[in-house]
Amino acid sequence: MSLRMLSDWRTPSSPATKNARTSSRPARVLLAASVAMFAGALATAPSPEEAGRRGENDEGLLGFIDRQVGGIDKLRVPARDEDLPGPQLPDGSDASGNPRYTTTEAKRYLGKQLFHDPVRTARILPEFGGVLATRQTGSCGSCHQGESASKAGTLINLNVGGEGRGYVTAFGEFVPRRRPRTDLLPRLRDVPLFDGDALVDALPTLTDVYALAGPASPARARKQPDPGQLLATGRLDALDSVARNAPGVLGAAFNNRLLLGGFAGEPDASPGGLNPFNDPAQESVALLLLDAHRMLDFQSAVLQTFPAYRKLFREAFPAEAAQADADGNLDKLINDETVLRATATFMRTVVTRNTPWDRFLAGDRRALTAAQRRGARLFFTPAAGGAGGAGCYTCHSGPQLNKQVNDPDVAGAGKFVEENFFNIGLNDHPVQALNRAARKDPNFLDDGRREVSGREGDAFKFRVVTLRQLKDARFFFHNGAFTSVRDVVEYFNRGVPQNAQSGSSPTLTRRFTNPRGPGFPAGLGLNSRQVDDLTDFLVNALYDPGFVTYDPKSPTRTFQLTRPDFTYSRDRPDLAALGAIDGRPISGLAQDNNDPLSRRDQGLEFLDVTSRVSATLVGRQRFKGSQLDVYRIANNSSALIDTNLLVIAKGLSPRITLANGAGTTSAGAPYRRIFLRDGVLRPGQSITVALEFRRQRRDPEISYNLSLLSGQGRP
Ligand code: HEC
Ligand code: HEC
Repeated sequence: MSLRMLSDWRTPSSPATKNARTSSRPARVLLAASVAMFAGALATAPSPEEAGRRGENDEGLLGFIDRQVGGIDKLRVPARDEDLPGPQLPDGSDASGNPRYTTTEAKRYLGKQLFHDPVRTARILPEFGGVLATRQTGSCGSCHQGESASKAGTLINLNVGGEGRGYVTAFGEFVPRRRPRTDLLPRLRDVPLFDGDALVDALPTLTDVYALAGPASPARARKQPDPGQLLATGRLDALDSVARNAPGVLGAAFNNRLLLGGFAGEPDASPGGLNPFNDPAQESVALLLLDAHRMLDFQSAVLQTFPAYRKLFREAFPAEAAQADADGNLDKLINDETVLRATATFMRTVVTRNTPWDRFLAGDRRALTAAQRRGARLFFTPAAGGAGGAGCYTCHSGPQLNKQVNDPDVAGAGKFVEENFFNIGLNDHPVQALNRAARKDPNFLDDGRREVSGREGDAFKFRVVTLRQLKDARFFFHNGAFTSVRDVVEYFNRGVPQNAQSGSSPTLTRRFTNPRGPGFPAGLGLNSRQVDDLTDFLVNALYDPGFVTYDPKSPTRTFQLTRPDFTYSRDRPDLAALGAIDGRPISGLAQDNNDPLSRRDQGLEFLDVTSRVSATLVGRQRFKGSQLDVYRIANNSSALIDTNLLVIAKGLSPRITLANGAGTTSAGAPYRRIFLRDGVLRPGQSITVALEFRRQRRDPEISYNLSLLSGQGRP
């Protein structure tokens, strides 16, 4: 099958699969039974309350967890990339011997570059509603940001068609920001994002292809592309968004199904499968996403034009390079498949290794605070069998806390396919309102695993995701319904479904509603101190600053391209000689996002807003040797002024200094940086800005012109 055939790939959530009555119940029941037995055997462990009173004992805790999970090693992240779990085929068999999937540093590094390089989003097709000005403005990193736990950081996840990346507050806190580009897509300006159906044509939805193609034969629609249907999907339309909240990509190596319904890594033959190369989940997900995110078929020609990329592909794919040389055909080296293989290798190596939790597992007794130790004990104590714990580890186990506790280790497990999907009674992601509108079905609800497996017994089940790095996650669950970890813990604590439809489905798991077992009231019934302890454990003990900020001493690599990756002039003079620019991905575009606002967010560009504001001198005070000028600066335009306002005093004598300035511009003028509230100055809004000048007695009079720029970084 050619990759081009994927042009019509979307998963069928068709009436045919919906009505399929195959069921996976036996496996589930067995699993539930074995967990219950396991829980019963542990009923003699000290209750968390008791442990808390006694003062938690580290060795006791480590030993306790060791017994709970069947060996503490099961929770440790391997120190070397080579020892991370290798590839597994869709049937669960080990494929480590296959060179297609080998992890090498050259592949990983190329994959990381590709992930963050907007140059690849070249598949913008006006005939399908694409807006050419959005070409090459987004990347995988648009929706997976290092500063946001490798999630999007926003409820609506926008790639091309969105603008902005995020800004830093006066306190150094990163605030993710990506919003629809109303300058290019003006009709989005006044659209209430979720209520109407005005966005149906502008946002890609998972299912509208079937709404328009008719229910007759989704299988045919998938295998035989028809341009009319492509238009109908909206998938190549003006705005790239996904009707789920992006999960973190941390620990993708540890699962043999990826995406929240397990679409990636599913066999091609399964009702919702689309895996033409029978690839492991990591390669499979990379292929699906090339198509979804405006890259497939178009990126290779662009990548081939960069000498530095040609070098990186040669290093990563020596056999393909030899073939390309022999045939005199670069397509043999730089193509969608080598791109997806490099991306998959990068995905396999995204882990954190240096959280307090990792140090605790390595034997550092002081790595966790007393509250975190109490939280960890609750987490690893069964909820059932009278043990009084929170039982989280039964679903969140393994090094990334995203596996069933009794799943065999990936390595050496033989054929094992994870079915780590549960219905915990959640609502839909707001963008799914568009699916409902497109299908004209007010009762349509994103049904998770069922869409992929076609099994009725999988309805509303979603994959258990990693719990690492959540301090930065901002939106939780596939629907983005919660904005704090504590709220998620409270949700598990109550055990009451949020949604009537998924909550009344027979697939709703009792491990959520009745974790303590039959005869107990709903939920866990933890008290608020226990909820605090559990939250503290999740938020702080599982957080690794090295994922966000480069630390040469940390065994964790940053998710973003950072100093060691792209200081080419120092570390990769060969790439610098081929045109790579320090501080940028290989293409030279801005990292992740390359629309004008994102470039301003990243300090690469500034917008002169002098003519859009009025600056009125409202006060002047002279002291000995100094002068304080106070301005009222108002946004007189009808557009937002973004991010930081840089107030520049131009034409000032070099003998006069701006005492409260942030530095001087590259042209030598002193400027003050104003951190705008919420990162914006709205139309009509005004702020007060004071400039404090210093002069010596003999210095000339203070005279200058104000000029105003928006943007971060040094102008
Ligand atoms: C428009 C936003 C967006 C862009 C762009 C994007 N993703 Fe995602 N990503 C998501 C969402 C949403 C999901 C969950 C989708 C689902 O389950 O159906 C996801 C899921 C994933 C997962 C699975 C994680 C898991 O735990 O199952 C991986 C891996 C991933 N993305 C990698 C990538 C790569 C590689 C690219 C670039 C080719 C990319 N993403 C581009 C939004 C995005
Ligand atoms: C029965 C299995 C199960 C149990 C038990 C369980 N979880 Fe989960 N958890 C899930 C699933 C499934 C998801 C993803 C659901 C979704 O997004 O649709 C999830 C998601 C989460 C998330 C959100 C992560 C994110 O990035 O969105 C947090 C936080 C979390 N769980 C914490 C806990 C805690 C704390 C406990 C113990 C009180 C717990 N879980 C017990 C299955 C479980």
